[in-house]
Amino acid sequence: MSNFLNLIKKQRSASKYEKFKGTFLDYLQIIKDNPETVQLAHKRLYETIKEFGMETVDVDSDNYRDIFNGDKIRKYDYFEKEFFGMESVINKLMRFLKSAAHKGEESRQVLLLMGPVGAGKSALVEAVKASLESSKPFYYLEGCPLKEEPLHLLPRGLRTEFEEILGVHLEGDLCPVCRHRLITDFKGKYENFPVTQSTFSQRGRRGIAVVPPMDANSQDVSVLIGTEDISKLDLYPEDDPRVLSLNGAFNVGNRGIVELVEVFKNEIEFLHTIITATQEKRVPSPGKHDMVFFDGVILAHCNESEWNRFRSEHTNEAILDRIVKINVPYILELNKEMKIYEKILGRSDFKAHIAPHTLKVASMFSVMSRLKPSQKCDLITKMKIYNGEEVIEKGRVKKIDIRDLREESRGEGMKGISTRFIMKCVDAALTDSESNYITPISVIESIKKQVNEQLIDEDFRERCLEIIGSVVREEYLKILENEIAKAFVTAYEEQAQALFDTYLDNAEAHTTRAKIKDHITKEEMEPDEQYMRAIEEQIGITGSSRDGFRSDVTAYMFAKMRRGEKVNYTSYEPLKEAIESYLISSVKDMARIVTKSKTRDDEQQKKYSEMVQTMMDEYGYSADSAEEVLTYASNNLWRDS
Ligand SMILES: Nc1ncnc2c1ncn2[C@@H]1O[C@H](COP(=O)(O)OP(=O)(O)O)[C@@H](O)[C@H]1O
Ligand SMILES: [Mg+2]
Repeated sequence: MSNFLNLIKKQRSASKYEKFKGTFLDYLQIIKDNPETVQLAHKRLYETIKEFGMETVDVDSDNYRDIFNGDKIRKYDYFEKEFFGMESVINKLMRFLKSAAHKGEESRQVLLLMGPVGAGKSALVEAVKASLESSKPFYYLEGCPLKEEPLHLLPRGLRTEFEEILGVHLEGDLCPVCRHRLITDFKGKYENFPVTQSTFSQRGRRGIAVVPPMDANSQDVSVLIGTEDISKLDLYPEDDPRVLSLNGAFNVGNRGIVELVEVFKNEIEFLHTIITATQEKRVPSPGKHDMVFFDGVILAHCNESEWNRFRSEHTNEAILDRIVKINVPYILELNKEMKIYEKILGRSDFKAHIAPHTLKVASMFSVMSRLKPSQKCDLITKMKIYNGEEVIEKGRVKKIDIRDLREESRGEGMKGISTRFIMKCVDAALTDSESNYITPISVIESIKKQVNEQLIDEDFRERCLEIIGSVVREEYLKILENEIAKAFVTAYEEQAQALFDTYLDNAEAHTTRAKIKDHITKEEMEPDEQYMRAIEEQIGITGSSRDGFRSDVTAYMFAKMRRGEKVNYTSYEPLKEAIESYLISSVKDMARIVTKSKTRDDEQQKKYSEMVQTMMDEYGYSADSAEEVLTYASNNLWRDS
């Protein structure tokens, strides 16, 4: 028991801050000492996120240039761990906040995140709100339902002078409730008005408000601006501010954030309040009372069809004018898509073993379902290029400019399979298998099933079935074949390196028309034509293209060495592929026999066990999942041979 109590006490004292309590006069002194204390909402939010750390990425140095077309890009530490491939969206969001912080027009705009389901809009808004919850407490007029900035007490006539003395910018007028108190409780002596502090809290409804979408019937503008308290209408005259319950979203979210979920599901009338809030930074109050000042960041999100419907109605022009839209597309980079699932699974209580390549296979499917077909290459090549991989074709790295591909498919990523769909498939794979692991095989099956059951649009369903049933499946079989063969080759790296060294010696001699020297006998020999050909044909280099390939390889390697760089068998992608393929094909037959045969002799059984062990120790399979993929390989690979 006392343990619990200790824990509770410890947490309480850690989370406590010394809440300031004083008068407006004391507050003025605080500002005089530190004018930065006074911040409007956009600026506070911007500074809060920036303070976690920020780095300007040198767009020339890495592949960011390709991704952002040479735009300058900043990385914000705050979002780094949780968001993948959203740099561009985050940069636009931060740019919006920054210029709003400088009181640009953006401070009078709604920021709208528009994109397909599961693209991360809600998650991003959650993160933004959470940042405020971690920010320093802010000062407000004690008892104010809007937690308003105490400087609102300053009468108009004194403001310019105070702005100069304090070095701050003043905006906004006292709310009706505080004005009433000022007159009745403090006889107009605003210097005595009490000032205190608060932190931000969404659940505590302090500075963060969320407006869920409402249907036309239950829609009531009081959700936004509060109500008149009927029980008090008997006590006070109609225009007495004491009847006001200023607990609407624009009251609660003052100083911080108002989030509008699926904003266009709301009726137009509802949206007018939002326009006023942005245009005038004021919102109506209930009944016959004055408008109240509003200073907050308005964040909205919606999907594309809602946006299109809304945009097409010309009566909506006024509000369209008040919207800064940021597109939030799906991720099109395989590696980043995989990270999303790793993150989601890491947070869930999903405890099953996930065999290697499982999330990759699922991600290949979702990414390819989002890609528009290209004139320049097939879907999987496009996916690989987007992922920053080198694609080899006829012995050369395929030269396709990623920018051309993007140019060709503008607006890509707004349609396709969602992250949620994939998570459902992963969960279903586990439930169906009744065992405590999932593999690429069970996930492929699960995806097929879900596609058949869930996708209504026939064209899209067919396209998805083609992708999962053939493109992804074949790619996975290639990966698996490689992996099994590698598990079969003892000392794989050393063998590959030895093949590489020999090839390079021969290719150089061939190119420079020299002889090669046997390392041991010192005997001079002609280059080994047969050996070179055996390597080259692995990647389809035959006939007259051999000379070119050999001199390319030689030139490439020696240029690297001259620069003092180390070369090894992985240095030149086409040659690496050739060597691996040579090595793998040399053990293919053995691998096939050992995995396929129902009855293994002692030697084969030993080899098989060793292979399973390697797959467990080096690739991260469990015994069960290794068996499953090996069985799959023996049934689906090497069938014709
Ligand atoms: N680019 C991304 N990086 C990290 N997580 C992402 C990304 N895109 C989606 N997610 C995750 O996918 C899930 C669904 O996203 P969500 O924010 O609910 O989408 P939306 O609101 O756009 O429909 C969330 O768990 C979210 O964290
Ligand atoms: Mg959402």
